[in-house]
Amino acid sequence: MRYQLTPIHCRPWLLNALSFKLIESHYENHYGGALRRLNAITEKLETVDFDTTPGYVINGLKREELVALNSTLLHELYFASMGGDGGKPPAQIADALTRDFGSVVRWKSEFVAMGNALAGGSGWVVLTYLPRDRRLINQYASDHTQAVAGGVPILALDMYEHAYHIDYGANAKAYVDTFMRNLDWKAVEGRYEDASKVAPPRALEQPEFGDLPGVAPEEVKAMIDAGKPVQFIDTRPRHFVSRTQDIIDGATWRDPERVQDWVGELSKSEPVVVFCAYGFHIGCKTAITLRDAGFDAKFMKGGHSGWRAFGGPVKQNV
Ligand SMILES: [Fe+2]
Repeated sequence: MRYQLTPIHCRPWLLNALSFKLIESHYENHYGGALRRLNAITEKLETVDFDTTPGYVINGLKREELVALNSTLLHELYFASMGGDGGKPPAQIADALTRDFGSVVRWKSEFVAMGNALAGGSGWVVLTYLPRDRRLINQYASDHTQAVAGGVPILALDMYEHAYHIDYGANAKAYVDTFMRNLDWKAVEGRYEDASKVAPPRALEQPEFGDLPGVAPEEVKAMIDAGKPVQFIDTRPRHFVSRTQDIIDGATWRDPERVQDWVGELSKSEPVVVFCAYGFHIGCKTAITLRDAGFDAKFMKGGHSGWRAFGGPVKQNV
């Protein structure tokens, strides 16, 4: 397979305060160079015998492939990010920036500061949509490689010196300001519209427990911190509890094998949250038993491990 060239997206003669010499050199030598390198590496990889080639050779080729591929992709996005007149972003992207950064001004302030912070160094500043959390973030990408896994980049600022040195020398700040004045917001908004249709990763499904209501550990902690009444029950199997040194602060352990022995101690007027080790069968089954008995019971997603993973407080199991 060979990667195909993408024609330059912006019209160089429409750019404000960026010379033909700079843009042509950037597109032909740096974008073109990355694409040519990428195809040369791809060709080389096709000839490699992976059973006999030393690991350091494979590492080197795959690393260079990643650098060249990301450089190619980010340069294509860079040239597609300019060609407008900067100004105010249209409503849809302005609303998204306000939702995720507090305001357009706040987003711009972070994005520009990240560009200025790369003066004298090199790297990319990228506005990326993250389907997992359905939100936008500003991210660095040094050495063309630190892309956010699963992210969809919609705007890229090239902070390698080759992007501005011909016109601006060491004055990276003036270049960043110029880039912002050339932003093509309509194109950015179009990419945001496409990116926001990307589905988040599939959530855990437990079809055997149907519509049993679950609650995230962060929400349980927020309920406890807010002083809301909640009966928080640890129903990890006895052998799990004796093996681990800690229990969740605020939770009471009850043997899931003997629900009938302790169910009478619970109040039906306050909600119950039960959890097991990881949020699978035992916590869910106990929640079902309690719901069948008339309690307002939910299981805690992720269980004890989920609580620990998000940093919830635990105490010694004595
Ligand atoms: Fe570049």
